[in-house]
Amino acid sequence: MSVREEFDDWATSGRDRGMEERHWHTAKHALARIPVEPGDTVLDLGCGSGYAGRALRDTKDAGRIYGLDGSPEMAHNAAGYTDDEQVSYLVGDFGSLPFGENTIDHVWSMEAFYYAADPRETLAEIARVLRPGGTFYCAVNYYEENVHSHQWQEKISIEMTRWDREQYRDAFRESGLYVAEQDTIPDREITIPAEAEFPTQNWDTREEMVERYREFGTLLTVGVAP
Ligand SMILES: C[S@@+](CC[C@H](N)C(=O)[O-])C[C@H]1O[C@@H](n2cnc3c(N)ncnc32)[C@H](O)[C@@H]1O
Repeated sequence: MSVREEFDDWATSGRDRGMEERHWHTAKHALARIPVEPGDTVLDLGCGSGYAGRALRDTKDAGRIYGLDGSPEMAHNAAGYTDDEQVSYLVGDFGSLPFGENTIDHVWSMEAFYYAADPRETLAEIARVLRPGGTFYCAVNYYEENVHSHQWQEKISIEMTRWDREQYRDAFRESGLYVAEQDTIPDREITIPAEAEFPTQNWDTREEMVERYREFGTLLTVGVAP
């Protein structure tokens, strides 16, 4: 299945909003850290429902928002959730960003970067479009140290890249970005049931669930264009 087929299915069955709800728990903390100045242009890679760009318009007065997604249905849904003319949703692929050199102030991506067919090519594209001093805030829940995420690959036909923290930093540097920060953001909002309720449908033990959400959380790597 292609990115388009897989995620068009997700969008038409309402999973775009389901992801938004779950990802918001940690995404909002990462978004709050992006040094967006009023009027800045922001690109959201793999935007899904497009919530992140809309939040940056509301909270930081971002100027122009582009949400790019490989699924036309995701982009279509996202466009339907706003009438803000400064926000646009485009269909495109991470391998070739439809923007000129030095045109974007900040790039954001939540739970999407590892679907890139060639993540190093995508980083090179991000480095190309970012203005000097611009940032890339890359947030992922699928990464090597998060052992509970490893099984996700079995559930999806698109090949996913599972880097560890160091591989993210190395790849960012190879693309020409400085690494300004790397951190994990715990999800403190997901409900963790009492011990007596385990095993649940998804978790064998409470300890595993606590580790996944409270200890591992979302890996954030921040790159800065020189
Ligand atoms: C798991 S969803 C995350 C959506 C959103 N960022 C969120 O936090 O809810 C991943 C999104 O990335 C998009 N995507 C995956 N691979 C892509 C690619 N190579 N080019 C463009 N979009 C891609 C998918 O269509 C999907 O909407």
